[in-house]
Amino acid sequence: MEIIIQPNPGVATSLAARLLGKTIREKPDAVLGLATGGTMEALYRQLVAAKLDWSGVTTFNLDEYVGLPPDHPQSYHHFMGENLFHHINMSPRSINIPDGLAASIPAECEAYERKLSATGGIDLQLLGIGTDGHIGFNEQSSSLASRNRIKTLTPQTRKDNARFFASEEQVPHHVITMGIGTILESRHCVMLAFGARKAKAIAGAVEGPITSMNPASALQNHPKVTVILDEAAAADLILKDYYRWVYEQKPDWQKI
Ligand code: GLP
Repeated sequence: MEIIIQPNPGVATSLAARLLGKTIREKPDAVLGLATGGTMEALYRQLVAAKLDWSGVTTFNLDEYVGLPPDHPQSYHHFMGENLFHHINMSPRSINIPDGLAASIPAECEAYERKLSATGGIDLQLLGIGTDGHIGFNEQSSSLASRNRIKTLTPQTRKDNARFFASEEQVPHHVITMGIGTILESRHCVMLAFGARKAKAIAGAVEGPITSMNPASALQNHPKVTVILDEAAAADLILKDYYRWVYEQKPDWQKI
């Protein structure tokens, strides 16, 4: 894993935006795995401002709430439209987000997985992290080999995400999410985490044992992961000085 610690979320987000911009410029038909959550909002704003050419890009989102229609203000369909897709030149046909209203959730999950492999797989997968270490909506105790499927949210995640809803009762219990096994097949995983409330999950994911109790720790088994943090999210890392030194000493050709 490459751990990049930046002074604040603004600088860290700019770095992630540069990395995504570089990917799209170098591979105009890139397949991107996209994430939602508060952490991604500033990143999508910067990507919109960068006026990239998205016409050849295909995207697959990580997850969606079960039972929310696409125009529900808290659905991830709506989030993606508002934050990114309505502002870029992507063809709607190239946008993939799980259908939380599908008549058969297992069939929807299988079809999503099939479509993803038919595109040749994800070049760059963006990831946030939950306060308990979840990626996508792969909650604690998820199989580290899991594929797209329905999951039940933990009380902690429903509490964390309640800030986007009028009340906690309105947060759905069920979601569709890419599995951890699916995520691990992406060619490059880029995880962003900012703020003190993510410090424990990040320390576990990066330096803890690989365990389903911190689903993001499965990324230790992936050959190419970039973790972009602010100081607060990096606070509990034992080797933080080492990561800083490594990044500062990078030769120019390795820099983002
Ligand atoms: C949700 C999403 C995750 C995201 C997490 C963190 O649970 N399903 O993909 O990583 O929120 O969100 P935030 O960036 O708002 O802390």
